Amino acid sequence: MSDNDFKTLDDIGDVTSKRILVRVDLNVPMANGEVTDDTRLRALIPTVTELADKGAKVLLLAHFGRPKGEERPEFSLKPVVPALSVILGRDVSFLPGCAGQDMADETGKLANGSICVLENTRFHPGEEANDDALVEQMAKLGDIFVNDAFSAAHRAHASTVGLAKLLPAYAGRSMERELNALDKALGNPEHPVAAVVGGAKVSSKLDVLRQMVEKVDHLIIGGGMANTFLAARGVDVGKSLCEHDLADTANAILEAADQAHCTVHLPYDVVVAKEFRPNPPTRTVNVHEVGPDEMILDIGPAAVEALSDVLKTCKTLVWNGPLGAFETPPFDVATVALAKTAAALTKEGQLLSVAGGGDTVAALNHAGVADDFSFVSTAGGAFLEWMEGKVLPGVEALKQSD
Ligand code: 3PG
Ligand code: MG
Repeated sequence: MSDNDFKTLDDIGDVTSKRILVRVDLNVPMANGEVTDDTRLRALIPTVTELADKGAKVLLLAHFGRPKGEERPEFSLKPVVPALSVILGRDVSFLPGCAGQDMADETGKLANGSICVLENTRFHPGEEANDDALVEQMAKLGDIFVNDAFSAAHRAHASTVGLAKLLPAYAGRSMERELNALDKALGNPEHPVAAVVGGAKVSSKLDVLRQMVEKVDHLIIGGGMANTFLAARGVDVGKSLCEHDLADTANAILEAADQAHCTVHLPYDVVVAKEFRPNPPTRTVNVHEVGPDEMILDIGPAAVEALSDVLKTCKTLVWNGPLGAFETPPFDVATVALAKTAAALTKEGQLLSVAGGGDTVAALNHAGVADDFSFVSTAGGAFLEWMEGKVLPGVEALKQSD
């Protein structure tokens, strides 16, 4: 996909007094009615301020959680409004619905340049079903549709796909930036390309691994999933988290990598402990020396150094998933060290680095380098599906819109 395949805000024309339905991601973590991480809110600032400054009536359309088509007050988007107003530095109003004539009448009364959050799209059963009747009722509220929620683009819902087909549709600034970054990283990358794929389980990332061996020159496997590959290769991983039943699958992936001339990097030294808790006694050992009562919880310093050398030879990096159990010290060491190398190479202009996925963003924030990567996606599922090479319906609908 290239940036020319869909229309952006550059193509939108005069929006004065137009009602613009902007699909954003307000699916933010909340505790006791307060937003605890505002990353996704910050992502919508460019689009919302640009449209409001041009005199549009900006209507924010989003889901929150999974209320499964029922109006459940604990899934209301109203508590997000104060945090959004602070982030934007502007007044933000709220309407208790997102479809139908009554709400449409209300949106007509809004002042030019105003910003209004509409209630959770998933209060309607037709949202996830992308039901035509709901799309029509939603479309009454707006004259134009802008999709700025890449993180919901893997969902073929009324507010992502349906509206893009019914109203003139454009990609918002965050969506545009994200698609351009992803295209540079895997669509049309500068080689050599490295991918870091980590996390607990091979089973949740099988399609990602299969796709990566076809696309990249170096596949760095970390986290619990590395144990599954090591075990498949005959290494005794002791009590480590490991999917022994996936040995054949892991070997098939290694075989496919060989065929595709992709070098797979598994750790050859690891940090082990007998208990999984903060700061237990640890040993750093060769992978062949893991004791029967020990668990691998991070990759070792020699492996990190070798991986840093690999990154130094690469032009492009895609990162999903931590290398160790990074939330529990000291098993964050390898992830932090390699992330810092990637950040430094990026700063020197030697590497284009793109990272995404829930845990990954947390890990890079923990390493203090999220701002130094070329691009960090706030998307979880959508980022993974993109890495799997899947078509994202929300993006596809923008491309087909005329
Ligand atoms: C996310 O949090 O990944 C997006 O907002 C999509 O949410 P969903 O997984 O409930 O569709
Ligand atoms: Mg999700």
